[in-house]
Amino acid sequence: MESGFAQGRLLIKDIGHLVGFGPAPIQRLEGSEMRSLPVIEDAWLAIEDGRVIDGGSMVDFPGIVDWNQLEVLDATGRVVLPSWVDSHTHLVHASSREGEFVDRIRGLSYQEIAARGGGILNSAKVLREMSEDDLFDVSLARMERLMTMGTGAIEIKSGYGLDLDSELKMLRVARRLGALDKIPVKTTFLGCHAVPDPWDGPASYTRYMVEEVLPAVTEEGLADHVDIFCEDGYFGLEETRLLLTQAKLRGLPAKVHVNQFTAGGGVGLCVEMGALSVDHLEILEAEDVAELSSGQTIPVALPLCSLFLDLPFTPCRTLVDAGCAVAIATDFNPGSAPSGNMHLAASLGCLKMGLEPLEAIAAATVNGAAALNLQNEVGGLAVGQEASLMVTRPLRSVEEAMYAFGDPLAERVLLRGNWIV
Ligand code: NIG
Ligand code: FE
Repeated sequence: MESGFAQGRLLIKDIGHLVGFGPAPIQRLEGSEMRSLPVIEDAWLAIEDGRVIDGGSMVDFPGIVDWNQLEVLDATGRVVLPSWVDSHTHLVHASSREGEFVDRIRGLSYQEIAARGGGILNSAKVLREMSEDDLFDVSLARMERLMTMGTGAIEIKSGYGLDLDSELKMLRVARRLGALDKIPVKTTFLGCHAVPDPWDGPASYTRYMVEEVLPAVTEEGLADHVDIFCEDGYFGLEETRLLLTQAKLRGLPAKVHVNQFTAGGGVGLCVEMGALSVDHLEILEAEDVAELSSGQTIPVALPLCSLFLDLPFTPCRTLVDAGCAVAIATDFNPGSAPSGNMHLAASLGCLKMGLEPLEAIAAATVNGAAALNLQNEVGGLAVGQEASLMVTRPLRSVEEAMYAFGDPLAERVLLRGNWIV
């Protein structure tokens, strides 16, 4: 598969509907702005050396002046969408956990499975035994599969190492995936994901993470953000405050797992501490919504996790109506969301979380990019942004892209100017 920015020129013309083109990258879309994601009917888009250089309505198309080494694609009747930005994944993991899937079908809950030593601790056990190269190989295969589904930028968390060496191993693998230059990869240090043996509880384990692992992670430049599983039975407000404070001193913004099973004040704490995003939010109280609407922290909904674990869906309609810049991501991981299908996640945004089609697409593109501080690079098709896009199969409208849920969407996928599908 191609790497880096493609050399050459590409013109996509007669596009049925072009989404996300403009003179400059959109930074984020908040509240009612989410509905105004730009759509041009009957459009063209010009690309050079892997970046968007121009575009607009066919009515104003200036014609082709220079045919030299120009590839032309006719996209009549198709929608051209910016590639998905998946701002929350656990893509680097050792193996799947389908045994737990069967246990759940037979009646055990996610928490009961975790209490028996399954769940995150099970993934950590297998990952610690795997070599860095083998972990890289299985993770690369997953990343390439997601790319063929139209994902053009991704965040990857650690959190299945849970000790110094294994957390570093995970983050080095994530950095190596980024260094391939296929798509932008942002990394997140999630050492506080679960408390492994022999630690007696979250307080002492978090101190170890803060005093020994965090410094090693930042000295090697392995992480772009920090994360913690702020949840009953995992890590509390005190651990969250300590970790976020220390990470901020080392220049790492926070993206926090919070309110997945319970609401316990974590959202307010994260907003107060200026977190970049709060992710999950299946259980959300009115005061959480008020806090989010008053700050800049991006709420990230993970509908595939809600679907897979049969949890409530994040109330995205309420959040958008409160003025938030909602994002949608997959949470791709072996325990609670073994799928990296952003198209399905966005459609569930409409079906289960009350978003209109353009809002769901904005959540899975522009606002996902904002949740990674990548909004100038990806998430849209504005002049200067990466030429990473999907050309759909024939569709009558942008709305149909969300309505046709779960079915293959992209006929062609272009990432950094390279056709990968
Ligand atoms: O985002 N909630 C915490 N972490 C992951 C699941 C981890 C796992 O089960 O392996 C999540 O759902
Ligand atoms: Fe997660």
